[in-house]
Amino acid sequence: MPSDLDHWNNAYSSTDATKLGWYQKEHAVSMDLISYCDGKNLIDVGAGTTTLIDSLVNDNYDVTVLDISSEALRLLSKRHGDNIKYLQADISQPIKLPKFDIWHDRAVLHFLLKQSERETYVSNLESCISSGGYAVIESFSKDGAKVCCGLDLHTHDEDSLVELLGENWLLVESIRHIHINPFGGERPYVSTVFKRK
Ligand SMILES: C[S@@+](CC[C@H](N)C(=O)[O-])C[C@H]1O[C@@H](n2cnc3c(N)ncnc32)[C@H](O)[C@@H]1O
Repeated sequence: MPSDLDHWNNAYSSTDATKLGWYQKEHAVSMDLISYCDGKNLIDVGAGTTTLIDSLVNDNYDVTVLDISSEALRLLSKRHGDNIKYLQADISQPIKLPKFDIWHDRAVLHFLLKQSERETYVSNLESCISSGGYAVIESFSKDGAKVCCGLDLHTHDEDSLVELLGENWLLVESIRHIHINPFGGERPYVSTVFKRK
């Protein structure tokens, strides 16, 4: 069984980015939700090689990307060089992070199968987003696929996200939508914006 690092590095080195199940040419929902939030200093956790970063850079966001996969970060750095900051880390483990205005996660939280890993994810979130800041969290929804990239998922809905983030956070927006993957498969998502009280 490969480690998570090997698993994700293999995914990015064996498959063209445009053929990965989560690939999107444009991230209209994410950009809409992010533009709802105040501030321009953003961390994208589990960024992979997402084209969302291109749109954020074009919109003058100060972007930091975090991913477990060194290969994803290498590919992303070929596109963005020194224009963004890179952190290789496992979001389910404690990480020392600087402060940001906005935390964005599309399709990472649902890979954390243990409650203890999800609680550490929230500790990391709270260490870098202060009162008045935002968390934009997008997950496969409970009525959707239970596996992605060969890995089991712990999927979410609004209630489970509210319960996970706890009393420090207010759910201010939620959108249900369907991502069509490069093979035509439907992947229902729940995309949310939380504001820290
Ligand atoms: C399904 S992809 C989504 C990529 C990107 N957010 C997007 O929407 O295109 C999941 C990403 O999360 C990363 N990842 C998985 N587990 C992680 C973890 N525990 N910590 C940090 N990144 C992780 C993977 O390397 C991969 O880039």
